[in-house]
Parts: sequence; structure tokens; C-alpha cells
Amino acid sequence: MPGDTQPILVFGATGQQGGSVASALLQAGRRVRAFVRDPHASRSIALRDAGAELVQGQLADTGAMRAAMRGVAGVFSVQPSSGQGALYGMRDEDEVRHGIDIAEIAVESGVRHLVYSSSNAVGEEPTGMGHFDSKARIEAHLRRLPLTTTIIRPATFMEMLVMPGFGLDQGRFDFFMKPDQPMQFLAVEDIGRIVAAVFADPRRFGGATFDLAGDMVTGRQLQSLFTEAAGRPIRYARFSDDALAANPFLARLTELLDRGRLAGDADLQALRAINPGLLSFRTWLAGSGQAAFAAALGTSGGWRYGRG
Ligand SMILES: NC(=O)c1ccc[n+]([C@@H]2O[C@H](COP(=O)([O-])OP(=O)(O)OC[C@H]3O[C@@H](n4cnc5c(N)ncnc54)[C@H](OP(=O)(O)O)[C@@H]3O)[C@@H](O)[C@H]2O)c1
Repeated sequence: MPGDTQPILVFGATGQQGGSVASALLQAGRRVRAFVRDPHASRSIALRDAGAELVQGQLADTGAMRAAMRGVAGVFSVQPSSGQGALYGMRDEDEVRHGIDIAEIAVESGVRHLVYSSSNAVGEEPTGMGHFDSKARIEAHLRRLPLTTTIIRPATFMEMLVMPGFGLDQGRFDFFMKPDQPMQFLAVEDIGRIVAAVFADPRRFGGATFDLAGDMVTGRQLQSLFTEAAGRPIRYARFSDDALAANPFLARLTELLDRGRLAGDADLQALRAINPGLLSFRTWLAGSGQAAFAAALGTSGGWRYGRG
């Protein structure tokens, strides 16, 4: 394809999703232009050393985004959200504005294919949670634009499960699901592999919206998988009523899961056909999740959203 020689512009390239996408695109032999806030940060330098071209900018700077989109074939669009707490100070209306700005500048710039990363909680009805409903608004705007777009809806990241604060250091694991309730999860590294396949075939994936996940597990299965990997018993329980009363954010996510909105509906077989290396939770835990799991087994402290 002629577009193959033009770069793909990756937002959030120093973060989890954008980092995974940049790395998979480079591995697939595509040119990557990474939109970074600080070109001197170690994550930016690592991207440059891996072969990416760096362009400096902020999401609020539409001029920088316009300059960054000159001559690109595709754009990977992801925004931080209010769901990440104080990490980036992102309000829901900022997330929506940035998601829409990126798409509109992509149209003006003649970009051929935009891949937008949403969330698997997004659906027909609002969730009542700002950082999901913001994504529904961006999705709706994208569908009205004259732009070939693919919307991916990632499941909760496997990386979330091994963050400190869920009790692993005390031989337990507390999470959203009831013991027999299934929930889908996704290894961040699979986002990149799937997005690289999507960019490689805009005719097949243009116009599509689909959930991304690598595995579906119940609380009881997590108990077995963690016990097996730790070599000592890890007991699973849903968050206690006290814990949910103390953390309204977790309480609302738990409620959403019970309403069927966070469990995920990804077609794992179809995703495995696109990405044969799709990681199950067991495989991820024995591979790139191992170090974070070992750290969580020995780390106490409260849960907060962050990045490794
Ligand atoms: N966690 C989950 O399970 C899950 C599942 C589905 C969807 N999501 C969604 O995923 C999104 C977050 O993606 P992620 O986990 O990849 O984020 P992340 O790892 O926290 O990375 C955020 C990226 O955005 C960049 N950034 C932050 N503020 C910026 C600004 N003002 N201008 C330009 N760049 C900026 C950061 O750059 P710096 O390196 O300079 O800070 C970093 O590259 C959220 O919308 C969340 O709702 C999360």
C-alpha cells in the first residue's frame, strides 16, 4: 500500500496503550511518529532509540497536533481520563475535547485511517460514569466524520490485577467479580499487536467497532491462577461492603459489572485469528506480568491508578 511508507502518528506513546502500539508498529516495519510531551523523558528517548520519530506537543495544543499530522497515513488516538484520578488532572470534558480535536484535525490533514481506543464499558446506554461516557461521546462524534475509523474497546488491563492494594501481599485478592462471575481482561501488549494488524488492513477494519480482550476469568479462576503462580494460597473475594463504602469509584465499577457493562463481550477466537499470540491470563502472568505480580505479593498499600 502507498500509505505504508508514511508514518503512523501515535498519541500517548510514552504510556501503556500508545507504547504498546508504537512498539508493535515498529516491529511490523511501520514508521512511527510519537506525539510526546517531553522528548527528553526516558520513555521518549527509548522510543527514539527504538526507531520512532518524536514530535513534541500537548493535547491542548491543536497547532502542535496539526503539525504532527502532516504527511501521516494513520493516527492512533487515546486520551488519559478522569478514571486515572489525579495522575493527569484530566476532566471528562477535556478528554472529549481532545478526542474530538484529534479526529477533526485528522480529517483536515487527509489522514486515511484513525484508530480510536475507547473502553469495553461503552455501549448503547450511558454508564453514568464520566470516564466511560466521555468515550461514548467521542465514538459518536467519530462516526459522523468523513474519516475511515476503527474503534477498539479494550477490556480492563491484566496489569490492573497486579497493582498493589488488592491484598496479594496478605494472601488474598479482592476484586469486582463475585466468585463465579466472569470478566474479560487484556494484556496491554496485545493492544499493539491488534492495532498493528488493524492499520495493516484498513479495508477490512475500517468502520469496525469491537471489544478487545485476551481472556475471560471468574474470581474463583483468579484464585487458582494466582495460587498456582505464587506457590502459596491466595484466596479470592469480592470487595467487602466496607471497602466499597469507603471507595465510591470502586463501588460504581462493581455496580456496572453487575449490570453487565464491564464484563466484556470480546470474541476471543476472532481476536486470536488476528493476533495468534493473544495472551491468556495464565500466560501473561508467567511472562511479562511476572515481575509486577512478584512485586505485588510483597507490597502493601492502598490502591490507586497509576502506570508501571
Ligand atoms: N486501565 C484499564 O484497564 C483501561 C481499560 C480500557 C481503557 N482504559 C483507558 O485508557 C486510557 C489511558 O490509557 P493508558 O493506560 O495508555 O494511559 P497511560 O499509560 O497513563 O499513558 C498516558 C499517556 O498520555 C500522555 N499524556 C498525558 N497527558 C497528556 C497531555 N496533556 N498531552 C499529551 N499527552 C499526554 C502521557 O504522556 P507523559 O509520559 O508525558 O505523561 C502518556 O503517554 C484512559 O482513557 C482509560 O480510561 C483503561
